[in-house]
Parts: sequence; C-alpha cells; structure tokens
Amino acid sequence: MEFTTLTCNLLIKKTDCLIIALGHEGNENPSLTAIDKATGGLVSRLQKSGDIKNTIGDSLLINEPSGLAAQRLLIIGCGKTEADEQSFLKLTESLTEKLIKLPIKSACIALSSLTVEGRDQSWAAQQLARKLAEGTYLFNPFNAKDKKKPSLTKITLAASSRKGLDRLKQSVEQGKAIANGVNLARELGDLPGNICTPSYLANQAKKLAKKHPKLTCKVLSEKQMQALGMGSLLSVAAGSVEPAKLVILEYRGGKTSDKPIALVGKGVTFDSGGISLKPGAAMDEMKYDMCGAASVLGTFSALVDTALPINVVGIIPTVENMPSGNATKPGDIVKSMSGQTIEILNTDAEGRLILCDALTYAGRYKPKTVIDIATLTGACVMALGSHASGMLSNNDPLAAELETAGKTSGDRIWRLPLWDDYDKQLKSNFADMANIGGRPAGTITAACFLGRFTKDYQWAHIDIAGTAWNSGNNKGATGRPVPLLTEYLLAQVKQ
Ligand code: BES
Ligand code: MN
Ligand code: ZN
Repeated sequence: MEFTTLTCNLLIKKTDCLIIALGHEGNENPSLTAIDKATGGLVSRLQKSGDIKNTIGDSLLINEPSGLAAQRLLIIGCGKTEADEQSFLKLTESLTEKLIKLPIKSACIALSSLTVEGRDQSWAAQQLARKLAEGTYLFNPFNAKDKKKPSLTKITLAASSRKGLDRLKQSVEQGKAIANGVNLARELGDLPGNICTPSYLANQAKKLAKKHPKLTCKVLSEKQMQALGMGSLLSVAAGSVEPAKLVILEYRGGKTSDKPIALVGKGVTFDSGGISLKPGAAMDEMKYDMCGAASVLGTFSALVDTALPINVVGIIPTVENMPSGNATKPGDIVKSMSGQTIEILNTDAEGRLILCDALTYAGRYKPKTVIDIATLTGACVMALGSHASGMLSNNDPLAAELETAGKTSGDRIWRLPLWDDYDKQLKSNFADMANIGGRPAGTITAACFLGRFTKDYQWAHIDIAGTAWNSGNNKGATGRPVPLLTEYLLAQVKQ
C-alpha cells in the first residue's frame, strides 16, 4: 500500500473514493462544509433525513456525487463527542474493512475531519496508515489463486494546512512500518507447526538481517547451547525431532557506547505440553506459542524500516515441545545457564524454561533494559481476556513507559504485582525452584520464576497469551504486541 500526504482542494481531487468524517459537535469542519456546498447541500440533507448517523461505524457511500471530481464519496460517522484513542482505532478498523471491500484502487481521506482527544493530527495519521496497511494482510502460503489482495493500493491523506506536513509524512511512514511488522508477526503466527519450525524461524531472522546492513543475525545450535550450559532450554526440546535454536539479532543504530535494549521472545513453534500432554480440544492453537518470537521479528522489521538511532538486541529461544521416549519427565531436574537448578513438575510449563536461559544470555550484553514477550500462561487469558496483555516488571519507570506506549498505540497492557509472597509458591524440595507454583495466580508465579533470572537489569515481562491471536471464527494471529514494542522504541528516541 502506497501513501501520499499532501494538501489539496478536495472538491477537484480525482480519486476513486473521497472520505469525509462528519466530525464531532462543536468542531468546525471546513472540509465538510465545502463538500456540502459543492454537492448542493447533499450531506446536510442526508444527515437530516437520518440516512447517515454520526456514530462510529456508520457510513454512507454515494456513487458519482455531483459537484465533486471523486468517483465516490464515503461519509463516515465519528461520534458526537471527540473520540478517545480506542474509539478512534475502532473507527479506522471499520473504515479499513469498508474500503478494502470496494472495487477501488485509490482513496483520499480528509484528515482534518478526524480528530482525537488529546492527540494531534500526526497521531491520527499514523494510526490510519497503520490500520489501512494492516488491512492488506492475506494468509496465502500455498499461493492459492482464489485468494486475492484488495485492489486498493493508493491512499492519499489530505491535510488542511502545509504546517506540520513533514511530521505528518514521518508519522505515516512509521504507521506503515508498524503495519509491516504486525503483518510479518501475523504471518509467522498463522503458519502451522509443520512449516514454522525452530529452523524456519531462524531462517526468517537471517533473511531479515540480510536486507539491512545495520542488522546482524547469528543462530546458536544445540551443541553451542550445551557448551553455554543451557540445560533448561534444551530440556524442552528433548522430545522433539526438531533441533532447538537460539536466534540472536543485533541492530546497531546508535553509538557503540549506547547500552542496548534487549527483546526476548518465546518461540515454542508447537506446544503439545510434552509428557504433561495438553487436552485435545483447540490444541491446534498451540502453533501460536511462538507469537512472542514473531513479535520480536516484527518489531525488528519496524525498527529497520524506521532506522531508529538506538541499539537493540533480539533473542529468540525456539523449540518444539513434544512427548516421546526422549522427552523430559515430570520430576526431572535440570541446571540452567545461571547455575540455578529447576525441578520440572509439569512439562507444559515450558515457556519459562526456555526463557530463563535466554534471559541469562541477555545479561551478557549489559543491557539498559530487557523486555520478554511470551504466550506464557492460560491464567493470563482468564485474568485479562483478549483486551490487554499482562505486564510485570521489577522497575517502576520502565513499567510506566510501557503503559504509556500501550495507550499511545492502543495495544494495551495491564500491570500485575511481582511480590515475594507469590515467589514462595515456587519452592521445591529437591532443587532451587520448581517450574510451577500451583493454580493460584499462575501468571504472577510464572513471572516470579523469570524474575529469578533477571536480577542484574531492569526488566519487564509481557504475557500475550490472551492478545496474540483470536480464537473461534476469527481465528488468526493479531501481530500484538508489535505496535506496543515499536511505540516504546520510538519513545526512546523522542526523549
Ligand atoms: N503456551 C501455554 C500457555 C497458553 C495456554 C497460552 C493457553 C494461551 C492459551 C504454556 O506453555 C502453558 O502450557 N502454560 C501452562 C502452565 C501451567 C502448567 C503452570 C498453563 O497456563 O496452563
Ligand atoms: Mn505449555
Ligand atoms: Zn507454551
């Protein structure tokens, strides 16, 4: 999808579809007034008759509107009061849905008619560009001919004044970069476990690095991980014929002396539960257990596209969790890279077992901040559903920065406590800790487990078990939290 940002006279703009929002009450909307006048009062008549209501999601399409150069005029409602971030994002989603269904190649959106409380026009433009570009996502790994990309490829965002046009253009580029990252994460998530294996993920990371001089990728083999003492990570891969990989991405956009931010993503390409086998219902969805890894790759894609002047390291431990004669058994004790020993009481609590070694490895970079992203616990789905990701952190300022990035991007998180009281649930009679803490507060005890490996740096854990994919009729990866992570990285530069 191609975006152009400019100022123009909407009345003589040649486009397949001109889009104008009604605007909220009390807000002067000169573009709407001009269009209304040019069409002989059509817009006000349609509003009066009730054919178009000023509610979010309502719209009316007029073909060949007289008085305008556009082929179509799409009038959209945007609510009587000024939209907040979430309702604006809903509006952009419903607009995208409508536009990609139309037989049009180009569209022009009157930006000034879309305002959001407490946000400037460049914020709105970024979200619009992002949602429209996300709308082009199409899962078609076998190149089926009947699956077609939407015909809409050219979007013009029309601003009302030249002032701030450069910033607007930059925001649109950022929106596009985030959307490309989101769509990459969705594609990797949607790919089934027989295609998207640990080796496949490693190759995708190498492919990404090849395209960008500031990005390098190295992949550690099981033998190399053995030499590092990653007994915990390797124990998860023991039952699978797919070899485990540790993928390391290094993006150098900042000064050599700048300490990096590390992003660590859980990459379980299929989680059967291992010997603690999961029940059969919806087990197919455990192909999504690598969405943390996918979000790291998606964020790196956005990072190179926006060429941010910072240093970022991506670490992806990736394995397949399977039962077999070689698989790890409940009761087995392993030694992690940190030296701490772990009694594995449930082989289905495997995410933390691969993350703990990756988090220890991250410490080698003397990172400024470490953020791990994981589809870690079913308990998080129970607590927060699909609306917010769970977040736990050992550092209040970092937690606040992430909360802000969540609000700005609409990719929201909710913090849970990391108190010692919960950590006690991990006690083992035979090792330094058990890998499960019982049923109560499963999301928190999982994070407490990780917290035992992140004492040397500022760290946040994001549990995306409820947000990384949709179930049911809309089954599919969401690409979350690429918008959150990218917004967090963008904010590092703005500071
Ligand atoms: N990948 C799952 C978590 C999960 C479950 C994500 C359902 C999304 C939907 C994870 O590896 C897991 O199995 N966690 C267990 C932990 C338990 C054994 C302590 C869980 O949540 O049941
Ligand atoms: Mn599991
Ligand atoms: Zn898992």
